[in-house]
Amino acid sequence: MSVQTTDKPIDDLVAEAKRVLPGGSFGNMPAEVILRDGKGGRIWDENGKEYVDFLLGSGPMFIGHGHPEVTAAIQSQVPLGTTFFGNNRHGIELARAIVDAVPCAEQVRFVCTGTEADLYAMRAARAFRKRDKILKFEGGYHGMSDYALMSMAPKNPGNFPRAIPDSAGIPKSVRDEMLIAAFNDVEMVESLIKEHKDELAGVIVEPFQRLLPPQPGFLQALRRITKEHDIPLIFDEVVTGFRFAYGGAQEYYGVTPDLCTLGKIVGGGFALAAIAGRADIMAHFDRLAMADEDFLFQVGTLSGNPVASIAGLATLEILRRPGAYEQVFKTGRTLMAGLDELLKKAGIKATVIGEPPLFDVFFTDQPIKDYRDTLKGNKTIATRFNQLLRERGIMKGETKYYVSLAHTQADIDHTLGAWAEAIKALG
Ligand SMILES: Cc1ncc(COP(=O)(O)O)c(C=O)c1O
Repeated sequence: MSVQTTDKPIDDLVAEAKRVLPGGSFGNMPAEVILRDGKGGRIWDENGKEYVDFLLGSGPMFIGHGHPEVTAAIQSQVPLGTTFFGNNRHGIELARAIVDAVPCAEQVRFVCTGTEADLYAMRAARAFRKRDKILKFEGGYHGMSDYALMSMAPKNPGNFPRAIPDSAGIPKSVRDEMLIAAFNDVEMVESLIKEHKDELAGVIVEPFQRLLPPQPGFLQALRRITKEHDIPLIFDEVVTGFRFAYGGAQEYYGVTPDLCTLGKIVGGGFALAAIAGRADIMAHFDRLAMADEDFLFQVGTLSGNPVASIAGLATLEILRRPGAYEQVFKTGRTLMAGLDELLKKAGIKATVIGEPPLFDVFFTDQPIKDYRDTLKGNKTIATRFNQLLRERGIMKGETKYYVSLAHTQADIDHTLGAWAEAIKALG
């Protein structure tokens, strides 16, 4: 028996989606984008239109779609069972690969999404410190939990350190458990930590916040200040893990946190994420190691399942090969420099920002170092530019170009051509 999916024309599929899904979509992309398949650095939609893919499934497909070695690994496991709940060999080996790769990782707990990983990392910090408040940075994204959805994208940023909920449905009381600081502002974060040190459970940060690189010394200062007060520092490496370097942003920027969260690449395109870090903090996940009141209760039906684990293992094996990161960085640098040059030549006020594996353009010539600076970018032009590019066979999210190991010179050439045309069409 095979599962029958229809071969309805795309317009009918869009209409169907609008009937059965709120907003006509899964919540991630517009209803009109219906993707059919992917190979390497390219994807095709249900109309058969081909795109160079800088969306990469929102980041996981770092080595490209349908990599033959990952596909073979998954196919070896699927007939043997897809989930067991109990430990399995591939999950244990993946945990060991993470411990070997990631500087802060002494132990690992698997979950299925970055949202969960961040939620439990914050909970682990609270269990360890026996305090409640978490400091995060304005504009920082740590998934969809009540605690994380604070001052992630405030339309009208308020006064620091007051948190502003980003969503309906979050209990009012939660905002009082979060403190908000400005990214890249050492002075502000130092004074907030000093003032609130007796209530603070932890500090969570994207070491590279969305598209904002840390200014020299910022992460080092965070490390110093949190260490002084024995406050766990959590790096959210859901995006940067195994992307900026095999050991993630902590290797790339040379700063080791106490805990980190991983997702996207580590699951090889399947639902797998992880909390990793210092053994004395991770011990709170261990019922036998902890008194009842210190035990952090955490289970998940699909955590560490063997299909996701073997997909992750196969992906990491490819990334360990000599030259993998050099190639991604070379592709990214070529693209960033190409875009910058085209925009400059056209006399458009714009700033290409990020690191080679992950970048985008803000339509402003003002310096950008924190969330409020990003609001200076002209969003109307950015949206129009993305639309013009989509028409020219470039698929990306609203605010990111994810670069892949699978992107080829032909992909770069197509992209440069599309950028040139789209910039001309911007007028
Ligand atoms: C930095 C960061 N943290 C957490 C998450 C949430 O991960 P997930 O979508 O797997 O829940 C994301 C997702 O894009 C992310 O970019």
